[in-house]
Amino acid sequence: MATVPTIEWESDADLVVIGGGIAGLTAARTAVARGLRVLVLAKGGPLDTATHYAQGGIAVVAPQGDSVTSHVRDTVDAGAGLCDPAAVRSVVGGGPHAVAALTRLGAVFDTRADGAVARTREGGHSTRRVIHAGGDATGAEVQRTLNAAGLPVLFGTAARDIVTGPNGIHGVVVLSDKGFGVVHTPAALLATGGLGQLYASSTNPPGATGDGIALALRAGAAVADLEFVQFHPTVLYTQGGRGRRPLISEAVRGEGGVLVDADGNSVTAGVHPRGDLAPRDVVARAIATRMRALGTDHVYLDARAITGFGQRFPTITGSCRAAGIDPEAELIPVAPAAHYQCGGVVTDPHGRTPIPGLYAAGEVARTGLHGANRLASNSLLEGLVVGARVGAAAAERRGVRVRVRDIPARVDHAADRRLLQQLMTDHASIVRDRAGLDEAHERMKAGMAQHRTLRAKAAETTERGPEAHPPAELFAGIEDTALTLAAQTVLLAAAARTESRGCHTRSDHPDPDDLLRQSFSVRLDDDGHPVLSR
Ligand code: FAD
Ligand code: SIN
Repeated sequence: MATVPTIEWESDADLVVIGGGIAGLTAARTAVARGLRVLVLAKGGPLDTATHYAQGGIAVVAPQGDSVTSHVRDTVDAGAGLCDPAAVRSVVGGGPHAVAALTRLGAVFDTRADGAVARTREGGHSTRRVIHAGGDATGAEVQRTLNAAGLPVLFGTAARDIVTGPNGIHGVVVLSDKGFGVVHTPAALLATGGLGQLYASSTNPPGATGDGIALALRAGAAVADLEFVQFHPTVLYTQGGRGRRPLISEAVRGEGGVLVDADGNSVTAGVHPRGDLAPRDVVARAIATRMRALGTDHVYLDARAITGFGQRFPTITGSCRAAGIDPEAELIPVAPAAHYQCGGVVTDPHGRTPIPGLYAAGEVARTGLHGANRLASNSLLEGLVVGARVGAAAAERRGVRVRVRDIPARVDHAADRRLLQQLMTDHASIVRDRAGLDEAHERMKAGMAQHRTLRAKAAETTERGPEAHPPAELFAGIEDTALTLAAQTVLLAAAARTESRGCHTRSDHPDPDDLLRQSFSVRLDDDGHPVLSR
């Protein structure tokens, strides 16, 4: 049954930023500096972002021994034929300026003994260009800096819908502790992060439920490249671990850590000339292959030869110790886990979508930077560069007068979250095939019908309509609906891509197909079902 929320409050802004991570807060800062009235919505608290957890660092062209051309080449190589070279050049070229702005705001990056900024190397990079903070706590420093900038953020407030009209964006429907509200605005930025919670185990925080994908699709925007879900090769393995799992940064391999199996054999020898520092998709696949061959669910990272490990990687040391492992004396058990959504809402390198006033930046966006596989530490870079550009671009909409008059009725389709995560983990992870993708799709559809019946029964027995449920349940409803639509979109695109490319590996189509060297985009049809076009 279609529902329209009862609106309890209203507000106005020149720009609504949905998301309080690196992309959202950077955009908000630029827009405030231009005199825009900005409202930032963040579903969680100030540290409930992927940004806060980022470890390795920010990839940015080094002043010496590096060049934009070299960083572009590494990015395009990792992207396996699907990067947009102009977008790559644009974002990479904007890096040094964007990092300088963050430093002026107060971010402190690690330095070497001679006072120069320290740079590490990660998978797919041809040189040491990744700057970091607090050893392996780069994201915490970035988030701390942006949180301290005094921006107007409403925490615990979720965007439910974007309302469009004849001249583009008219407003955002929001759920807060005051109930549902409407913010009238001519400009909205989706900066909602990724969709790691589609899988049973992920590096992502609990709020990474693909909300921005659902908001964009329902607003009429297109998403692309969503079949390319990046699995990080090295996430701390503990038996039965689900939900957000601690990351073991690629920088550990950059500093000399090596991947071995239980017999002490290298996992990546002979797989790629860069060995353990090959692009992420290559290393994750090599680990999955070895695990399958040995019938195990993890391999090991040997970091014992790294001097001063505890000082260089304090966050990782803490996570290992909490799991009873001493990384300076023991092997670290690791396995791949869902980490990053390479595709997203289709934008230009300034974060603009074709819908006037609708922008996307950060992990939720698909600018063309990442192609079929993101290069390590290019995400914080993109959030900084494109976020700042959106803050400036949104000024174009200042003075466009809009008012939300009608809130569109909506039918929510949601599968049970645990079922959905299991289906995606079993059938749409590092290696997929047609039969598994079809099975996931069918079982999800059946799960949606069953979930709807259970929810209707619960509403009947408590004699409450869905609107009377406490906010926690309404919040979960927004997330489950988004997860379900995002999962359907990933499955649709993954089934259509009958080849292997970047982080999309099909065991039934093991090679790349030149005819498919193009992005697939997905929109909703008039009935709200995702449809794919090439
Ligand atoms: P996020 O930082 O995830 O913020 C999303 C925001 O949106 C949150 O405030 C959330 O509450 C809010 N939100 C979501 N839905 C809604 C809604 N419906 N309504 C209101 N608010 C909503 N990248 C690198 O470049 N270098 C690294 O070293 C690195 N390390 C990483 C380590 C880990 C463990 C993880 C998980 C990721 C790492 N990444 C790294 C990736 C990178 O951190 C993220 O891609 C990036 O921080 C995303 O930033 P963002 O601003 O797009 O989203
Ligand atoms: C890491 O530190 O390995 C994560 C870096 C990234 O995701 O870019």
